[in-house]
Amino acid sequence: RELWDAAAPDGAGQPVAHSGQHFRVEGRFGLPRSPQGHPVVIQAGDSPEGRQFAAAAADVVFTRHGTLEAGRAFYADVKDRLPAHGRRPEDLKIMPGVTFVLGDTGAEAQENAMEIRRRQISPQNALYALEQIWGIDLSGHDPDGPLPEADPDVDSTFVQGRVKHGDPRQIAEKWRALSAEKGLSSRETVIEATGRQSFVGTPAAVAEQMISFVDQRAADGFILVPHLTPDGLDPFVDRVVPILQERGAFRTEYTGTTLRDHLGLPAPRPRTEAGRG
Ligand SMILES: Cc1cc2nc3c(=O)[nH]c(=O)nc-3n(C[C@H](O)[C@H](O)[C@H](O)COP(=O)(O)O)c2cc1C
Repeated sequence: RELWDAAAPDGAGQPVAHSGQHFRVEGRFGLPRSPQGHPVVIQAGDSPEGRQFAAAAADVVFTRHGTLEAGRAFYADVKDRLPAHGRRPEDLKIMPGVTFVLGDTGAEAQENAMEIRRRQISPQNALYALEQIWGIDLSGHDPDGPLPEADPDVDSTFVQGRVKHGDPRQIAEKWRALSAEKGLSSRETVIEATGRQSFVGTPAAVAEQMISFVDQRAADGFILVPHLTPDGLDPFVDRVVPILQERGAFRTEYTGTTLRDHLGLPAPRPRTEAGRG
C-alpha cells in the first residue's frame, strides 16, 4: 500500500522506505498511479483470522457461504468486525460464489440442474470427491458400488491445500445415511450430496431470489460461477440481467470507469488512516 500511495501519475514516484516484520523495501515505485488509487483487494478466507484480515484490509470478500442462512450469519459476522478498523459497512462488499440454472418453467430448471450435476460428477470425479472426505487413495474403489466401508482417516495428509468443509466423520455419516435412505451408489451419493446449485428456476424467480438475498443481508452482490466456460454467463446476461435492471437491482449504465467504481467502493484511504497490514 505504501508503494501504491507513493506512485505518481507520470511514474516518477515518491521515495519509499519501509521496514516491517515481513518486508524491507527502499526505492521508488516506477509505475504510474492506478486510476483507482489502489487495485481492488479481494480476499477469501473463512477462519476467524481470515475474517479479521478481510475486515482490516479487503475491499471484497469472496465467500462460499452462498445459502440464505449461512450467508446472513457470515455477513453479520464480517460487517460487525469493521468498526474496530474504522471502516463502514459499505466499505467491504460480501460476495458469495454462486451458481445458477435457468428453465422456462420451475420444473424444467430443476431437470436441467439434475442433468448438469450428473454430467459434472463423472465416475472419476465421484472418487475424487470421496477421497477429499475419506482422506485415502480410492482409485480402486467402484463408483457404482456402495460407499467405502472404512471410516475417514481424519489425520490424513493424502489431500492437501483444500478448505475443510466440516468434520470428515460427520460428513461420511451423513452420506452413509443418504445412501441407505435412497439406495444410492457411491457416485449417486456424491451427485445427491454435493454440487448443489444456488439459484435454480425461471429467470424471474432467479432474479427475485438474488434480490431477496441482498435485501436480507446475506450478500452485497454475487460472483457467478457458471457451469460452462466460456459462454456459461450468456443466459444470465440475456435473461436475468434485464429483469434485475427493471427491478432497479442492476445498473443500466456504467457510472465510472474502474472496477472500484463499478463495485461502488470508496476511494482508498490515505495510508496514515488505513493502518499498516
Ligand atoms: C470461497 C473461497 C475461495 C478460495 N479461493 C482460493 C483460490 O482461488 N486460490 C487459493 O490459493 N486459495 C483460495 N482460497 C483459500 C484461501 O485463500 C485461504 O488460504 C484459506 O481459506 C485459508 O484461510 P482461512 O483459514 O482463513 O480460511 C479460497 C478460500 C475460500 C473460502
